[in-house]
Amino acid sequence: METFEILSGLVPAQRLRRDEALDRHTTYRVGGPADVMFLPETRSELLAVVTAAHVRQIPWLVLGNGSNVLFADEGFRGLVIKIRGSIPAEGTLWHLRQEGEFIWAGAGVSLPRLARSAAATGLSGLEFCTGIPGVIGGSIRSNAGAHGSDLGAVLESVEMILPHGDVVTIRASEAGFSYRKSGIDPDGIVTGAVFRLTPDEPENVYERIRVFTEYRKRTQPSSDQSAGCMFKNPAGDKAGRLIDAAGCKGLQVGGSRVSDVHGNFVVNQGGATASDALRLIEAVRERVFERTGVALELEVRVMKSGVV
Ligand code: EPU
Repeated sequence: METFEILSGLVPAQRLRRDEALDRHTTYRVGGPADVMFLPETRSELLAVVTAAHVRQIPWLVLGNGSNVLFADEGFRGLVIKIRGSIPAEGTLWHLRQEGEFIWAGAGVSLPRLARSAAATGLSGLEFCTGIPGVIGGSIRSNAGAHGSDLGAVLESVEMILPHGDVVTIRASEAGFSYRKSGIDPDGIVTGAVFRLTPDEPENVYERIRVFTEYRKRTQPSSDQSAGCMFKNPAGDKAGRLIDAAGCKGLQVGGSRVSDVHGNFVVNQGGATASDALRLIEAVRERVFERTGVALELEVRVMKSGVV
């Protein structure tokens, strides 16, 4: 049986799409079709599909806002599970709830929404999330951050499901967070998390959000299509500075271009393909290595067309 037929017996029909174009689901706007896309609303729907995929050995991967990922032009042969919500609602994977200095947020909540929600209830610690175009699930796995902080610093615990069906909660202190990295089981799917925050006056929290927003607008190509920062900052230096110093700004392959605003952003000028972006990334990496001796490491996840 085909993946679509297997899964359509398990969840409502409107949660599944066949041959779904991935460029519609990524911020860089490239990527061919996924054989099947699954858009779960609840944890039990997710559990049903993931355990079935595990038993049938269907290749799968999880996508949130598609902001830190590059899919191949051939797309993905298997199942793409997209967890992203809009209006927080109880019982969904994008539920949001505050209790004292803690916030529970489902995997599909966007980071800017989480930041605004914390500010409105007078809680500080998530202001840095304001301009990050990701959702909780994927952002926890890569320990997203900005402005000197990251999610690992404010997380209390992470809830996830394992492919054979267990739901587990791990303490943040045991999740191996470091710069843009976590030790979270790559076979697990984050379903939600608890953040421990610090009470503060809402106007102070909003002011920090305003300052961060202004900084990003000034220093990053926020209105262009990109996958966010392409490379991690190497120890003791900045990828953007190195790329700039190596004269890579403005380099272009097809519709992919190194941003003139910030060297660590590759922007889609319209009509870019994944292979354009990959060739450009390689050219940048080579030139930076030749000029500085630093081998830049990708922050963006590159998805091959087959099994990841
Ligand atoms: N710089 C240049 N040329 C450039 C870009 C930057 O010389 O083209 C210099 C800047 O002048 C500055 C330094 O490099 O002195 C650092 O630049 P910036 O303040 O923009 O910070 P960054 O280290 O490049 C990091 C995160 C961003 C986050 C910002 C703001 C990484 C890889 N990047 O950028 O995160 O938004 O700080 O806090 O850690 C992301 O992770 O996707 C991302 C965009």
